[in-house]
Amino acid sequence: MDRLKNKVAIITGAGAGMGKETSILFAKEGCSVAVFEINEQDGIDTVNQISANGGVAKFWKVDVSNEENVKQAVQEVAATFGKIDILINNAGIVGVDKKVHELTNSEWDQVFNVDVKGVFYCTKHVIPYMLENQKGSIVNLSSIYGTLGSHELTPYHAAKGAVFAMTKQDAISYAKNNIRVNSIHPGTIMTPLVKELGSRMEGGLEAYNKLMSEKHPIGHAGEPIDVAYGCLYLASDESKFVTGAQLYIDGGYSAM
Ligand SMILES: NC(=O)c1ccc[n+]([C@@H]2O[C@H](COP(=O)([O-])OP(=O)(O)OC[C@H]3O[C@@H](n4cnc5c(N)ncnc54)[C@H](O)[C@@H]3O)[C@@H](O)[C@H]2O)c1
Repeated sequence: MDRLKNKVAIITGAGAGMGKETSILFAKEGCSVAVFEINEQDGIDTVNQISANGGVAKFWKVDVSNEENVKQAVQEVAATFGKIDILINNAGIVGVDKKVHELTNSEWDQVFNVDVKGVFYCTKHVIPYMLENQKGSIVNLSSIYGTLGSHELTPYHAAKGAVFAMTKQDAISYAKNNIRVNSIHPGTIMTPLVKELGSRMEGGLEAYNKLMSEKHPIGHAGEPIDVAYGCLYLASDESKFVTGAQLYIDGGYSAM
């Protein structure tokens, strides 16, 4: 119950999928959660669910691809809760499913603005508060697609590869300040993101789920809670000697 007792976390994209599940789990473990979410109703729903269970959470309407928006919200979190211990860079979009020769600049930028600049802006504006305390934990949601190729989603692969590289670089930059930076690489996890992606495919979500389940040696897709537990370990002091690591939560996909 107390694995994150008295800690303060910012979780981006906390209104759905893994961000929501992670927010609920962190609150159960004693953490105060700043819910950063572009979708107002979903963000408020996460906060309400946490409050109904006796946890502490507050909503900020944030578009992580807007630096001013991020800067302002981060300042308000520090003013509200007094410090920032944890940042979970979770918000992300998959973008278009095209091969590189078919892509337009704006399709490329759409994904990079959220998935890469979002991580850059949130990290940039949270780090000064962690430096003040000489302590912190940042978890970046990359993907199996950040280190492996696949049959789909070219800009998403490139963006998640950038997040993977930023994780290593930031881990080294801030290791002496006791700010740890790690990445999580999920396989297919059944969230609204995957449901939307699957529904675009011929045969719909059922066909996509079957295709992806076969690619995971364990034989099925994962659940948001599988990733939330990984975030919990990396955010907590249990992982105090872990930085620059990649945690694959993928049913064995990357072991093939
Ligand atoms: N689901 C998977 O199979 C899978 C696999 C590997 C990696 N990931 C990554 O994990 C993270 C979470 O994925 P998910 O499946 O839970 O996604 P999701 O779409 O279910 O939830 C993402 C949340 O982020 C919010 N969001 C989107 N753009 C935003 C922005 N600009 N600013 C603030 N919030 C924004 C959405 O409104 C949504 O609530 C993403 O970074 C995703 O790329 C997902």
